[in-house]
Formats: sequence, C-alpha cells, structure tokens
Amino acid sequence: MSYMIGIDVGTSGVKTLVVSETGEIVAQATAEYPLYHPKVGWAEQDPEDWWEGTLSTLREIGTKLGKNASRVKAIGLSGQMHGSVFLDKSGNVLRPAILWCDVRTADQCRYITEKVGREELIRHTSNPALEGFTAPKIVWLQQNEPEIYSQVAKVLLPKDYVRYRLTGEIFTEMSDAAGTLLLDVTNRRWSKAVLEALDISPEILPECRESIDACGTLTREVAEHTGLPAGIPVAGGGADNACGATGAGIVKPGRVLSSIGSSGVILVHTDRPQTDPQGKVHTFNHAIPNKWYVMGVIMAAGLSLKWFRDNLGHLEKQMENLTGIDAYDLMSKEAAPTPPGAEGLIFLPYLNGERTPHADAYARGVFFGLNPRHTRGHMIRSVMEGVVYALRDSVEIIRGMGIPVNEVRAIGGGAKSPLWRQMQADIMQLEVATLNIDEGPAFGAALLAGVSAGVYTSVEEAAENTVRIVHTTKPNRDLVGLYDDYYGLFRSLYPALKDRFREAAKLEA
Ligand code: XUL
Repeated sequence: MSYMIGIDVGTSGVKTLVVSETGEIVAQATAEYPLYHPKVGWAEQDPEDWWEGTLSTLREIGTKLGKNASRVKAIGLSGQMHGSVFLDKSGNVLRPAILWCDVRTADQCRYITEKVGREELIRHTSNPALEGFTAPKIVWLQQNEPEIYSQVAKVLLPKDYVRYRLTGEIFTEMSDAAGTLLLDVTNRRWSKAVLEALDISPEILPECRESIDACGTLTREVAEHTGLPAGIPVAGGGADNACGATGAGIVKPGRVLSSIGSSGVILVHTDRPQTDPQGKVHTFNHAIPNKWYVMGVIMAAGLSLKWFRDNLGHLEKQMENLTGIDAYDLMSKEAAPTPPGAEGLIFLPYLNGERTPHADAYARGVFFGLNPRHTRGHMIRSVMEGVVYALRDSVEIIRGMGIPVNEVRAIGGGAKSPLWRQMQADIMQLEVATLNIDEGPAFGAALLAGVSAGVYTSVEEAAENTVRIVHTTKPNRDLVGLYDDYYGLFRSLYPALKDRFREAAKLEA
C-alpha cells in the first residue's frame, strides 16, 4: 500500500497528514506558530517559523511511520494564499512575509487599478486589485521599502518557500499563482501586460507548473533529518482553497464548497474561466489542470463565533474545563431553542472588514435590532446566522453568473455543528452534505501528490476514490419566506452603514 504526505502551511499552524492510497489517514502531526501585527491592519509571519513547524511535523511523522516510511511515494504542499516571501539572490529572507489578511495596501490597490485600468486588470488576471492579493504587496515594497526591493531576487508564496527548503528548488503552480494578480488566469501564464504596467521584472517570479507536476525532490539532508525517503517527488500542490476543494471532492460542475473555518469560503468548480464583471467573487485556477473555480471569501466566519466565545462565553469555557464538553457545543445548545431569525436580531460578521461582496477594509461587526427580550441564545444564533447570510451573498453572485449551484459540501466548523448545518441548508435553501473526510487542504495536497506519483491517474479519480458523502441535511421549506425576508434586511444594512464605518475608523485611529 502506497502512502502520500500532504502538508498545509496555514495561518495559525502547519498540518501534515499521511494518507494511504485508499484515503485512510495513517498519521498526522501539527505545529503552531505566531502571527504578528506590528501595526493596525498589518499581518506578518516569519517564514522560518513555517519551515521549523513543517520540519517538526515531518520528524514526528517519520517517527510514527518507522519502517513504513518507505511506503511514502510523494509529498504535496498546500498553503495560505497570497502571502509574499521576499528572497535575495542567495535565497535569504529579506523581511517578514506579508500575509493574505494584511490590509496595508489600500493605496497600492488604487495605484494598480489606475495603472492597469479596472477592466483591463479583470481581462488580464480575471480579478480586481484587492488588499489581500500579492501584487499590491510587491508594489508596497517598491514604494515603501525601496532598499529592500532592490535586493529582491525572487518572490515566493508561503508553501513555495517551504518547497524551497524541502527540495532546494524554486517553483510555483497555477492555483497559488492565480492569487498573485500577476497570472493570466485564462491562458495559464504570467501576465506580461500587468508585469510591465507595474514595473515588476518577470525574473523575480518562479516558474509556474501544474499542481500535479513534480516540482523538486526531497533533499538527502531533510530525508536524513526526518526518516522519510530521499528523492521522492514534491508535487506542485495548490492554494489552500484549491486543495480544500479537491479534498472535499469539488471536482465537478454543480458542486459547491461551503467552508466555515476562521474565514468563510463559498467555492464552485467550473470547466472554463468565468469572471464576475464586477469582480466581487474571485476566479482562480483549480488544482486540476485546465479547470477553474469561482470563490467568495468572508473574513470572519468561525472567527466571529470565536470572538463571542472568548469575550462573552466565559461560562461555556468554564463548563468546558469542568466537563470536557466543547464550549462551541454548549453555545449551540443555548442558541438552538431560539427561533430562526433570532426574533429580529441580525449580526453583521465584518469584524475584520469584509472581502466578498463589499471589498471594504473599514466595515465592522454589528448587532442590529437588540431588544430587551433577547438573550445570549439569540445573540449566539444571530452570530451563526449572520455568517451564513454573508456566505449566501457569494452564492447569489455565483448563481447570477449562471453557474450551477446544486450540492453544497460543508467542511470546517460549519460542518461539525448540526445547528450551523441546518442554518446553511435553510438560509441557502440547498441540501448540505457532510463527508467522510474533513481534514481540509492537507488531504487535497496528499491526493495531488498521489497523482504526481502515479498512484492515481487523475485528480478526479483520486477524489472520487476517497471522498464520500456520509450525511445530508435537507432544507426546511417552511422557512423560505422567513429567511428570505431576514436575508433582505441583512443585505440592506451594509449600504446604510458604509459611510458610518469610515467615520468610526477615523475615531478608532
Ligand atoms: C483566499 C484567502 C484565504 C487564504 C487563507 O483568497 O485569502 O482563504 O487563502 O488561508
């Protein structure tokens, strides 16, 4: 039996899985690392922490596998998108990496949009300039730290930096390159037009291959350190969302991923690149050659409920310590008896600003409609419902583009909680499936490694052989009218508050 390793270089930590060719999780290891906020709106990490974390998980895996380590045929990499690692010509990291959730680049987004032209930018890269993407970070460095920029020999994405340390080779692949705003997403090559307009040398970008291509092999040094076989291929791998989708079987049109992790994602597979002319949802290359996906991202999904738990859920946290029952389960129990719609209480989950559909770094969280009858249970329900209303925004845009939305596959916290699953089914009025596997992007990365090593003949085959639906939550048709009305109210609140958020930001500063 062959094994594959999938590594996901996430924002809070790295997760490494060993997956058998039939899809069983044979071993796993995780390591956490810090996230730095040196200024308001900045988010940075030290690439050395990603590397140390990855190495420690591989060492742990090597020990767990023992003699069976020789079964490992390939490694696949996944990672947080958009982050920029700046390397000098000797391969040294020049400054901390600037991450996907860093919003320092509002001016650079305006600059890029003016330089290239909004429509031209969408025509060339399928996306508008958003603060999280990579190109605005490169322009920020040009404009704000020119002495560092002058030393940049390569710009790498997070997982591709880890690849560099695993293999000594510099590559990226289509699905992560798509999030740089420098890839011609339709024609699958770096965009000469955008690079020229922004005065970025193509030399600083890595060669871009496919997710299933071998992009380097494990060095003898790392192999000796971890007990894994030297020389095994490291597949291109993919962006965390592309790998998460692969690992949830989003490999056919009509299938939709609904992921509630810290952020929230709605993602649909497409056979051709389909672009929202307004650029509200992203169009990126899938980890499957010649396939694409359309995706909406909300910045604070699970994070909104975590905020509630950490600041207002002390009771649940104490109970968790005493009884071992998860604080989120206790919060769900408290919310469950309150009626759908939380009797008029609506939560806007814009704690960290919002990406889809508002692209507004100034937006903030709101409880709207509080009255004296409302309890903590109502508040918890409204936080959970608010996250799903925000996800429905993406579903509506995607439907409006004429893309079929038939079967939702839920992963993350939103899949674990029966209450959150039912809310997704009711608010989106779609069946919501849960899967035999909910291991996230590391699992998809392992499948891509399997394809690159010839264990499977295609990504589709890998997913169909390993991922199964185990449960389906059906929408309650009686709630269509009620939730449509509440969703309408939810949608009307942001436009009414947009300018007030800006005023509040001035006071906050
Ligand atoms: C996608 C995005 C996030 C990160 C999180 O555009 O910014 O989902 O990939 O890891």
